[in-house]
Amino acid sequence: MILITGARGQLGMAFQRLFQREKIECIATDKEELNITDEIVLRDFVKGKKISLLINCAAYNQVDKAEAERGECRKLNSEAPGKLAILAGKIGADYITYSTDFVFDGEKNSPYTEEDIPNPLSVYGRMKWEGEKAVFREKQDSFIIRTSWIFGKDGNNFIQKILEWAGTKQELFMIDDQISSLSYAEDLAYFSWKLFQTKQYGLYHFSNSGESSKYDQAKYILEKIHWKGRLHRAKREDFPQEAKRPKYSKLDSSKLEKAIGEKIPSWEDAICRFLEESL
Ligand SMILES: NC(=O)c1ccc[n+]([C@@H]2O[C@H](COP(=O)([O-])OP(=O)(O)OC[C@H]3O[C@@H](n4cnc5c(N)ncnc54)[C@H](OP(=O)(O)O)[C@@H]3O)[C@@H](O)[C@H]2O)c1
Repeated sequence: MILITGARGQLGMAFQRLFQREKIECIATDKEELNITDEIVLRDFVKGKKISLLINCAAYNQVDKAEAERGECRKLNSEAPGKLAILAGKIGADYITYSTDFVFDGEKNSPYTEEDIPNPLSVYGRMKWEGEKAVFREKQDSFIIRTSWIFGKDGNNFIQKILEWAGTKQELFMIDDQISSLSYAEDLAYFSWKLFQTKQYGLYHFSNSGESSKYDQAKYILEKIHWKGRLHRAKREDFPQEAKRPKYSKLDSSKLEKAIGEKIPSWEDAICRFLEESL
């Protein structure tokens, strides 16, 4: 049996849809039922259940708020992934958890590989990196997948926001000097599942192929929906934020592609499928 934590989030929902399609049974939980920061709750929950795979989709994802809420972010992003690794080890389950491109400082100008050394600029990035180290300390045969800019059918993501703004605004300003790549939640769930089946444990990067700024993404999607307004370029300094972000953090996903022998679709293709499936 597969256990998903944080199952009502973007990735958790995509996993639920995937398993439903594949007719694979899973137990989907979110924080009310299974708070991943509570060791006793975790231990009691798995008692008597035959869990063979634990997929942790739960996280603290409020990158700016984390600067002030360091403790909360640490509990969820650094400590809980390690506790779940211990639990998975004890019950003999495989374990998949997720990290972020924000572990990097953005000083590189070519895609980041798993060999590149993290140097996080924010509390969120630091806590995620701590979480990665805790996981491999506790259970070496785990999967950690770093990903970036997730968007999906559920949740309040950038692509959903563009569609919302397109309905209410005539003018939009989008940042063009921060580059990474989108990760479609449906693709991330699918490729994670494929990767799991290889049993080649370790650290992997996943994002849809190609790189883009928020300006590029907005332009692409607004053209697709024939928006009549005006889109302007903006810079990061036009929208000051609490947390520092890497200016370039495209993840090189070739290790994962090689492991499963399949190419990851482009971010443009992912947006097209998202629009077809959602509108
Ligand atoms: N979103 C991105 O752009 C992005 C980028 C890089 C990496 N990642 C990583 O990718 C993974 C999946 O992200 P996502 O976008 O699917 O996240 P998400 O949509 O924010 O979902 C996270 C889920 O975890 C739940 N949760 C919060 N605290 C919990 C707790 N104590 N116990 C159990 N569940 C709890 C949340 O519930 P509430 O919503 O009710 O709090 C939410 O349903 C995460 O590890 C994330 O850090 C995401």
